[in-house]
Parts: sequence; structure tokens; C-alpha cells
Amino acid sequence: MPTMADVARSAGVSVATVSHVLNGTRPVLPHTRQAVLDAVEALGYTPNGLARSLVTSRTRSIGLAVSAISNPYFTEILQGVESAALEAGYGLLIADPHDDPRHERKVVQLLHERRVDGMIVAPSAHPHDLVGYLRRHAVPTVFLDRVIDAGVTDGGIADGGAPAGEGPASGAGAEAGPPLDAPCFDQAPCFDQVCAESAEPTARLVAHLAGLGHRRIGLVAGLPGLSTTGERIAGYRAGLAAAGLGHDERLLVSGNSEAAGAERATAALLALPEPPTALVTANNAMTIGALRSLRRHGLAVPDDIALCCFDDFAWADLFSPRLTAIAQPSRELGARAVRVLLDRLAEPHRPARTVRLPCAFVHRTSCGCPEGPVPGEDAGPVGPSTLPEKGTAS
Ligand code: HPA
Repeated sequence: MPTMADVARSAGVSVATVSHVLNGTRPVLPHTRQAVLDAVEALGYTPNGLARSLVTSRTRSIGLAVSAISNPYFTEILQGVESAALEAGYGLLIADPHDDPRHERKVVQLLHERRVDGMIVAPSAHPHDLVGYLRRHAVPTVFLDRVIDAGVTDGGIADGGAPAGEGPASGAGAEAGPPLDAPCFDQAPCFDQVCAESAEPTARLVAHLAGLGHRRIGLVAGLPGLSTTGERIAGYRAGLAAAGLGHDERLLVSGNSEAAGAERATAALLALPEPPTALVTANNAMTIGALRSLRRHGLAVPDDIALCCFDDFAWADLFSPRLTAIAQPSRELGARAVRVLLDRLAEPHRPARTVRLPCAFVHRTSCGCPEGPVPGEDAGPVGPSTLPEKGTAS
């Protein structure tokens, strides 16, 4: 196998010059650089990544820790991360924390031990250990999908129809320790974050259903403690308030972000003395669970009960009726997380920022509308994409 010394000899330069060309560690005259690249090509030289890492203290790798990789939403995020990383010359190491705080902490430590240059992590509902570890080791990290702002809670959500406030403990605030968004140094927040808008799009679904005359709109919400859960609940409540509908807390139940939980939660809603006439499901997996429950109860969508869901997916328009949904910019979320991480690596002391991307309202027929655009409603992006990014300017 040809060595760097062979390349140097063939190009008529020193080994150090070959190293500078291949690692980009120092500017090299264009004709010298070209001679080195020609020699690399002619000899079929493959750089030794391990040796390069010893010289540069960088591995040109990113650790990605996201749960539920088989969920199409996260699979698309993964595709966005992978292609943006590759474009920038970075490889990926992937781990699945299974939304379990202990496992999460373990896989993040493993990725750190492999000396990834930085990490992209979708934190679990109870990320105190994770955050403590990342802070202690000053690991450049971007939180993806779920943010860790203090104050984002699920507000006492009912689990499977239990009275509001008696559900599982909220992640945020349920544990001891410093606030998750405590400053690291210089009063600056520690972590960059990239997520989709959750509140406004959920409010948009509620407004749409209220506009169709529904007065009892249920929400099958996600896992307590996740910021996406808290924000979608906040959007649900805001949508009800904007439509002048009081909220009956019994209509807000937790599907725990998964199909089986949503199936149980939907059954609990249907067992209420006055069940909802319309349903909002807060993610794609829970939409499947809700549909199973509706079918088991012999209810037809939208004639017996209307349905709008968070998350669009490839086959949402193959359901009968076709699903009215909020589409998250999943690939772009992944790609943006990589770019934010690369900015951090290039400038370690830049202020942390939170980037929120807008979603799109995809109008179909499960809401009870006929095919076609919604009269008087704008089908554009949902979410204040024009607002300045939270945190300090980028
Ligand atoms: N967050 C946001 N959207 C989602 C999720 C999630 O964890 N799962 C499915 N859609």
C-alpha cells in the first residue's frame, strides 16, 4: 500500500508538504498542491484517518444520537444529517438512546470516547445526566428536535384518560439539579438547538377544526417531559382559546408518543360521556394508534370523527380519507443541525443559538373538508420563521 513518503517522493516535495495539502493545515502553492494531488491519484494513495487524527486532534466525525430511528420522521432527519455531513467531509457515528435517560448517557459517552468532533442529540424527556456529562466534558453539541429551555412543560397532562394532573411526572422540573438551560460561562447558554415549530402548527390544526364547527376537539399528546409535547399542548390550548372554546381537560390525553399509547388514549377519549367530535394527534406514530382505536370502535373518519395530525409521511395521502397533516421540515432540520455544529466547531466561543424552522399545513380530507385548498386560509408555512432566532444573533 503506498505511503505518504511515496507520494512525497513522486511529487518531489517533503512529507510535511503532503500532510499540509491533505489536512488543509497550511496554505500550499497551487502548483505544488496540484503535484501532490496528482501523485495521490497516480499512486492510489488512501490517507490514514487515524494518523491524521493524531496530527490534527480532529476525527472529522460527528456523533448522532436520536431515538426511534425507524420512525420516518427521524429517518428523514438522519438523511439530512448524513448528506450535510458528507458534503462537509465528515463521517457519522450513530447511536439510538431509546429515549431512555440512562441509555442516552451511556451512548453519548461511547460516542465521546470515540472522539467525535461534535454531537447532534435529540434529548430524552429526562436529560439531566446527559446535559451534565456534555457540560462537564465541554462536548460541542447541538440539540435536535427537542429543546431544553426551562419552562417548557407538559402542564400536567392526563395519561390515557386519567384526570389532568394525575399523569406521569413532567420531565422538566421533575428532577433535582440545576436548570437545564443554566448558562455555562459568560451568561451564555451552553447548547445550540435546532427544532421545528410545534405550537403554532398545532394551533393551526385546532383553528381549522373549530372553523369546521367542532366544539369538542381532543388532543392525543406525546411523551410528558419532551419540549415537543409541551409546545404542542400549548398550541392546542392557544388554538382553543383563539376559537373561543373553553378547554375541557378530559379531552387532553397522553399517547406517550407511540402507537400503543395513542390507541389506549383514544379509547379513553371515546369512553367519555361526551366524546370529542374531532381529534388532533401529536405525531405520526400516535396517528396510527388513534386510527386503530377508531376502527376498533367502528368509527369512520371524518363522518363520525374528524382527524388532523402532526407529521406528514410518505403514505399519509394513501389513507382513506387522506390525512390532513402538519409536515415538519425533517431533512432540513438534520442538515441545519450539521451546519450549526460546524459553525460551533469553527468558532467555539460564539453565542449559542436556537434555530426554529417552520412547518407546512398539508390540507387533505380527514378533517372533513372536500378536496382542494381551504377557502380563506393560507396554505403557507406555519410558524414564525421570520422571528429572530432565539438566543443571540447567529
Ligand atoms: N418529535 C417531533 N416530531 C415527531 C417525533 C418527535 O419525537 N416523533 C414523531 N414525530
